[in-house]
Amino acid sequence: MEYQIKTKEEYEKAYKKSIENPEEFWGEIAENFVWIKKWNTIKNGHSIHNTVWFEGAELNITDNCIDRWASLTPDNIALIWEQNSEDRESKKYTYSQLLVEVSNLCYVFDTLGIKTGDTVCLYMPMLPELTFAMLACARIGAVHSVVFGGFSAASVADRINDAECKWILTADVAYRGDKTIELKTIVDEALQQCHTKPNLLLYKRKLKENTKKTQNEYDWVEEIEKVKIQKLPIFPSVPMQAESPLFILYTSGSTGQPKGVVHSTAGYLIHVNYTFVNVFQYQKNDIHFCTADLGWITGHSYILYGPLSAGATTLLFEGVPTYPNADRLWKIIEKHEATVLYTAPTAIRSLMSMGESWVKKHTMTSLRVIGSVGEPINEEAWHWYNLHVGKGRCALVDTWWQTETGAIMISNLANVTPAIPTKATLPMPGVHLVLIDDNGKAIPHKGEEISGNLCIAAAWPGMIRTTFNNNQRMIDTYFKDYPPYYFTGDGASCDSEGNYRITGRVDDVLNVSGHRIGTAEVENAINKTIGVTESAVVGVEHAIKGQAINAFVCLIVMDNERIDSIKNEIQNNIINAIGSFAKPEKIILIGALPKTRSGKIMRRILRKIGEGKLTEIGDISTLIDPNVVIDLIKSYSNNL
Ligand code: WT7
Repeated sequence: MEYQIKTKEEYEKAYKKSIENPEEFWGEIAENFVWIKKWNTIKNGHSIHNTVWFEGAELNITDNCIDRWASLTPDNIALIWEQNSEDRESKKYTYSQLLVEVSNLCYVFDTLGIKTGDTVCLYMPMLPELTFAMLACARIGAVHSVVFGGFSAASVADRINDAECKWILTADVAYRGDKTIELKTIVDEALQQCHTKPNLLLYKRKLKENTKKTQNEYDWVEEIEKVKIQKLPIFPSVPMQAESPLFILYTSGSTGQPKGVVHSTAGYLIHVNYTFVNVFQYQKNDIHFCTADLGWITGHSYILYGPLSAGATTLLFEGVPTYPNADRLWKIIEKHEATVLYTAPTAIRSLMSMGESWVKKHTMTSLRVIGSVGEPINEEAWHWYNLHVGKGRCALVDTWWQTETGAIMISNLANVTPAIPTKATLPMPGVHLVLIDDNGKAIPHKGEEISGNLCIAAAWPGMIRTTFNNNQRMIDTYFKDYPPYYFTGDGASCDSEGNYRITGRVDDVLNVSGHRIGTAEVENAINKTIGVTESAVVGVEHAIKGQAINAFVCLIVMDNERIDSIKNEIQNNIINAIGSFAKPEKIILIGALPKTRSGKIMRRILRKIGEGKLTEIGDISTLIDPNVVIDLIKSYSNNL
């Protein structure tokens, strides 16, 4: 691959060119893809948020991710599926088999009436069928909206309603560790709250018998069988515009309502491919193991589209790292001879806490690159990962990016640019970063370390195109704080050599075990509890999860007898509104929240109390009633 950077000098050259002449830079890379029609212009637009990439071009992403490899390397393995249970056999699909699977599902979609432009909700376990469904949507030009299997019925319904989905694809159950999750039951509940009255395509794993179908319900396997007996040719891919939406993915922000981040076809494809090939230094025969869930952007970009766009083998794991034991990931790596592992600091820290013996048993000689994503990686976890998983001989990449960025934005390149513990290091080519002070001014780099709000000063191909059905919301969310820049919501520092360290969110967004959760979403759920007047949720440092949720809750009357039951109701309301992953670690019932004269809650105070850092509470003179702090500390200690 011509665009694979091989040396630090090549990185510098590529970076310079990408900033000075992005059209030429991305245009040359774009030549390496399969197009139905070439572009008129490469990059066009008045501002960052209305930039159009490869205007006039037509393509289908599945021609690039499947057909190209099905004809060049038909027998190479595209997908390995490792089941939750170790005793169950893993499944492999070659590129030519993948093409057939996706084609069959396209015929099913066609028969059922799922068409180009439709939005389709995918609420599924980590099954090969989920990847077939995402690709079949892309092949016919339907827009997939994958919803993570950990979300509650209410969250599924919200997302179906917002994206106006006419279809939901699901399975009866998901297996995660020793748990069985009844997805179909959750979907049935969600459907009652959907005004779009979606049809349902159900993949049965457990329910083999002929269970009664509800209205508008179709059986996945039955429908596929009907297609198979017809022995049809491969379903032709539908030509899509470069800027056609490829998918919607919901993510949390400062407001209570999650946003449907919309990604495009051409720009996204090129950006995920470029970053996949360069960050992990893709080599032929690589087996890429990304442990994320397909319900998050990491799964979209680095389980599915990135690896397949490069003709790599991608490993899909249904289970969890600690089931049946804390060496499951290491066993999977050895069993399938994975060459790349891409996982999150929270998983690393949790495995680290189980002791070295689990990882020491495994030599994992196939591994070449190990990657980290989703949250800042602390120094101890970095070294443990490097020494015990990488055995000191793998390149470690710390990759910073977001649902909105589509692909990796800041990272070292494996064995090409240096890794620095706790730093994501250098911007990828095409990524123009700036640090902005609180007054909105770019902080000049004069050789010393600087820190500020992390912003992006130029459009990049994989960037968010809009928030579904509400373009103004995208502009307000990302471009209003520090115009004309895109504001990431993160704080960062940059050293004299230009290496970035991400210090974490500076807005009201939490990162719990790599899950992005808006404080307002949790507060809305808490405030639904009868007897609650108001609440404030903060993220406090947590040794394994990165952050844990502390919820400070005010009640109309404090009834000592009912404390436990109120706390239970609050927990249940959160589980029902969002999902178990958003459960607070602590609920602290209090008399009043610390508010400034303008009514703003001083979350900093709550965070410091939650972290036990009472000496760091700082200035409280702007509070309406500074005595509140003493009461808060008391309530907190009584709660322990
Ligand atoms: C937020 C985005 C990118 C895919 C997974 C998360 C945090 C992400 C890093 C990193 C420090 C990181 C940021 C970012 N984050 N990667 N390498 N170092 N922080 O996607 O759910 O959209 O969350 O995750 O705070 O803003 P997401």
